[in-house]
Amino acid sequence: MKIVFISGSPRGKESGSYQLAQYLTHFLDEKFRVEFIRLDAFRLSPDIREKNSEFDEIIERFQDADIVVWTFGIHVGDLPASLKLLIEYIFQHVPDLGIFTNICAAAICTSGRLFDDIVLSRIRLLSQAMGMHYLEDIAITGNQGLFYDDDEYTESQARRLARVLNKPSGILRDEPPLSACKREWLQPVKDFPEILRAVPETESADSRGDDHPLLILSSRSVKSDRTAAVCAEIITKSYRDGPVELICLEDLNLKRCDGCLWCNHYGDGTCKFKDGLDIVYKRIQSFSRMIVLTPGTGASDDYYHKVFIDRIWVDIHREGLKSTYGGIIMYGSGTLGESAVGFMVRVYRLLGVNIVHTIPELFDLTATNLSSRLKRMLEQVAEAHQAKDPIPVSSNLIADRRAITWITARWGYILVTDYDYLKKKGVFTWRERMRIIPGRILFSTPTRYRKLLRFGRNRITRNRIARLKLKLAEMTREYRPSGFGEYE
Ligand SMILES: Cc1cc2nc3c(=O)[nH]c(=O)nc-3n(C[C@H](O)[C@H](O)[C@H](O)COP(=O)(O)O)c2cc1C
Repeated sequence: MKIVFISGSPRGKESGSYQLAQYLTHFLDEKFRVEFIRLDAFRLSPDIREKNSEFDEIIERFQDADIVVWTFGIHVGDLPASLKLLIEYIFQHVPDLGIFTNICAAAICTSGRLFDDIVLSRIRLLSQAMGMHYLEDIAITGNQGLFYDDDEYTESQARRLARVLNKPSGILRDEPPLSACKREWLQPVKDFPEILRAVPETESADSRGDDHPLLILSSRSVKSDRTAAVCAEIITKSYRDGPVELICLEDLNLKRCDGCLWCNHYGDGTCKFKDGLDIVYKRIQSFSRMIVLTPGTGASDDYYHKVFIDRIWVDIHREGLKSTYGGIIMYGSGTLGESAVGFMVRVYRLLGVNIVHTIPELFDLTATNLSSRLKRMLEQVAEAHQAKDPIPVSSNLIADRRAITWITARWGYILVTDYDYLKKKGVFTWRERMRIIPGRILFSTPTRYRKLLRFGRNRITRNRIARLKLKLAEMTREYRPSGFGEYE
């Protein structure tokens, strides 16, 4: 039997989830031929329209597997961008998803335990939509392979998943996979014939004021995505309170986050990659009104938007776009749009944006009623902005902020920028601060950080080996023939 671990972490061999998966293989039966596909070693082009040989190679390697284990750390409430991209490719390019119907799926996920439940339910849905039989997942608190909360607990979870995977394949596949969503809802490239047929005539914007510029932040390029182009055009023609600026994330060629956490360890929260995002982000921050536009793919926003969000993740923890008012349009997610856009609202509200209106789907809309819906969105954004309506403090916003504070309080020496920001807001107790200070000193330079990382990892390995030896000794004792001890 073949088991393939698809590791989506950008951190390669350093990745916590990858290392946990490697460890788990020790508990697998000998019947398995184990293979790892590390997506960081592939260079899948973000241009999803073209199929490429790298993608063919990945599919070839896992389509004859009996079990696929998605292995990843959470990145802003979603899969890491490279795994997201692979899934976009699958829904866009694999003509017959029937090739996956004999495969069982499982997942290994490490994170700070913020949004892991959401991501695991999404990977379950995506696996089932591919026709796979979803078995089980494990979610572990882990940070960057440095240490795990409680390694014995981690090990027990690894053993638990291995026990499930070791079951005979007939038992694993006894239930047919459920698939409640249409394939087109999961595909990144969208087509809306009704909307695209014509761009409606709208009034010219002669009487435009210039008090409140509006930003359209489109995930896809308007050069290649007709739906984005039509929406942007209608918004530009309809907006009356100022000039409209369009930023297309696809055109920026942003590098995807490599999970180094440099932004949070050393510096002011800006990403180490110098590909122009810092300048574009400053521009984005200068707007007080914005409309976000993205296709829905894989039950969430698309790859380009995801890359952007990962790169500004420190700002998500410190309300980097505070006092902005806006709306979100997601197109092509069918009935999944509601929950997908709901999660985007959560992220943007953490960013400080007052999201006052969303359009979770464009299916069944004609060009004329699309136009009226977009106008309504613009009116609501303008009204809320003028009235300075504060962000509604929903219970999940409070919970998310508390969770971030909690993670930071425990890992304050790692999430330095988060810690500094929250400390200024006075959210930590003195006890939390006292616990963090020694860690802050120990981890104060990159060299020390690397050394401590190595030290932490070696300690985990030593403890694991010791536990395995103990277990082996116990097993040997259990299987001794009776009376054996008398001759010792
Ligand atoms: C850009 C970025 C975003 C992250 N977002 C989350 C998050 O939303 N929730 C969470 O619990 N942890 C988050 N984390 C922490 C990672 O999930 C955690 O470090 C995980 O162990 C990384 O796994 P890996 O080493 O396999 O890549 C984030 C880390 C990075 C670099």
